[in-house]
Amino acid sequence: MGKIESAAGPVLCVVGARPNYMKMAPLIRAFGNRADMPPALLVHTGQHYDAFMNDQLFRDLQLPTPDVNLEVGSGTHAVQTAEIMKRFEPVVDTHRPSCVVVVGDVNSTIACGLVAVKKDVPLVHVEAGLRSNDRRMPEEINRVLTDQISDLLYTTERTAHGNLVREGIADERVHFVGNLMIDSLFAHKPRAVPAATSLARAGVGEKALADWQQFGIVTLHRPSNVDQADTLGDLIETLADASRRLPLLLPLHPRTRANIERFGLAGRLSDSRILTVQPLGYLEMLGLMSAATIVLTDSGGIQEETTALGVPCLTLRENTERPITIEQGTNTLVGTNRHAILRELDAVLATGGKRGRVPELWDGSAAPRIAEHLAGWIAQRVTH
Ligand code: UD1
Repeated sequence: MGKIESAAGPVLCVVGARPNYMKMAPLIRAFGNRADMPPALLVHTGQHYDAFMNDQLFRDLQLPTPDVNLEVGSGTHAVQTAEIMKRFEPVVDTHRPSCVVVVGDVNSTIACGLVAVKKDVPLVHVEAGLRSNDRRMPEEINRVLTDQISDLLYTTERTAHGNLVREGIADERVHFVGNLMIDSLFAHKPRAVPAATSLARAGVGEKALADWQQFGIVTLHRPSNVDQADTLGDLIETLADASRRLPLLLPLHPRTRANIERFGLAGRLSDSRILTVQPLGYLEMLGLMSAATIVLTDSGGIQEETTALGVPCLTLRENTERPITIEQGTNTLVGTNRHAILRELDAVLATGGKRGRVPELWDGSAAPRIAEHLAGWIAQRVTH
């Protein structure tokens, strides 16, 4: 087997964009805690790079400074993916890794995955098998393709296994290990910034704080929600209405902020009880989500975090790749229809929302489970 001679090399751990960081942080730590694990090197593609999207999260999650930064920055999907591939290839050549570990579903995940397999380096995908079954989502393409080329696939929920088997992936490659995102959540919850502190930083004065006894948090960044003027306009209109029921904090992703300006929607926001802020740090977001009455989002990770925190979540999408958050957790899929959103919001305000429970193996120990399994897997490849 051609891969064996490189098997003693380091493990290259790839991150690129914000939702990767909370998954990789506990994993890198767990790798470092094992004497039988080759050294782990952190590779940052630079897909996210600014202070709000990147630096603050690295600090909050106590992620080490990357050993390699490819500094690709923004671009179209083709440009960004191609640029990551071009810059990652020499890194693989230099380090001759025993495997490449990618997480999630961003462009960095598939780009580095492709480089690895074409160099005959084993590819490990963490958070494999999630499917929205919506191929218009760039992340869905990244998920399906990364899973197809991975040697080892670690999953967060049992439905993922069925999805993978249906796509012809061999059973023995798939391992249900739990959810790294929840490892980070449990590890950092005691350090979360109190909501009152974050609200004060966001400009909520002491007197106004009384109005924020109950509040909601909103995040919006999916291209399908924010790239068209009428869709984004309708959503903001609905949220402005919702803010009559309770004030809403809206940390603005750079894509969403740019589009609000481009489409001339800023006036409608300032006319409501929606408070916009820069993207928040991890510890601020954790404190705010824990204290929130409700979260409205189109994010993937936040659907999981609210389920683990027991906070009601309305997902402003037509589908989710994380069905367990609906079946067992606090999540409700509401789409973008104004009446549906307001009706579900009213239901949560009246009843307190779904109670939910924390899914199987979302217990804070996914990282040591992966590290133990992967160390054994690498050792076996070296000796055979
Ligand atoms: C990416 C992921 C998405 C994830 C999201 C989290 C893909 C296909 N999408 O989407 O799955 O949910 O990250 O945020 O990989 N920008 C900045 N500063 C930054 C990074 C980006 O200002 O540090 C701006 C740029 O104008 C850029 C835009 O945000 O064009 C979008 O960034 P990009 O990385 O292309 O995709 P995201 O929408 O962030």
